[in-house]
Amino acid sequence: MKIESTKSTLNHNNVFVIEHSLVQHKLTLMRMKGTSSASFRALLNEISMLMAYEITKEMPTEFTTIDTPLETISSPVIDEKKLVFVSILRAGNGILDGLLSVVPSASVGHIGLYRDPKTLEAIEYYFKMPPQMEDKDVIVVDPMLATGHTAVAAINRLKALKPKSITFLCLISCPEGVKTLHESHPDIKIFTASIDRELNDHGYILPGLGDAGDRIFGTN
Ligand code: URA
Repeated sequence: MKIESTKSTLNHNNVFVIEHSLVQHKLTLMRMKGTSSASFRALLNEISMLMAYEITKEMPTEFTTIDTPLETISSPVIDEKKLVFVSILRAGNGILDGLLSVVPSASVGHIGLYRDPKTLEAIEYYFKMPPQMEDKDVIVVDPMLATGHTAVAAINRLKALKPKSITFLCLISCPEGVKTLHESHPDIKIFTASIDRELNDHGYILPGLGDAGDRIFGTN
């Protein structure tokens, strides 16, 4: 089945589909049910690095004076310490390593939320952020934007800390999740490798890739 997604990078209202061929190739491998946990994790790590490249494309740079072996020049740098990656446990952790390998000095926050299996509502059990969030640009990561309830709950909590910006990064999203997240938080930019067809009655994305946490940690 071909995945329907708009071809332009910016689809509508703050949704950015990363259509880079390598990202799409790796996502296809991750979707395959025969892909082992070890390969799934490795692919998620690689795809996260590629997505980090897109998401940080327009990060502000400052000029600093450096000495090359031949000359002194003014050259651009980003302030890595201003970036906070916030992982929505547990599947978000699968994205963290890739992001940290390209922005190693970023700090990391964790939010533990689980979905009530009956209501599909998000229930918080853990919240730990770095200090001085008012100075930070936050990137919230979760491989799947499904019902959107978890993302909304995470962003509600984070907004109370008044960071400079919040961006949401996921591998796969669906129309329902995008709608729910943007109904509560239209200002949040969503970066995703795919907007899949739909959500099923159990809150799984179709065609999706199954349970991302189980596939990362081999718990299925
Ligand atoms: N979480 C997952 O891991 N997979 C889905 O399809 C939806 C939510």
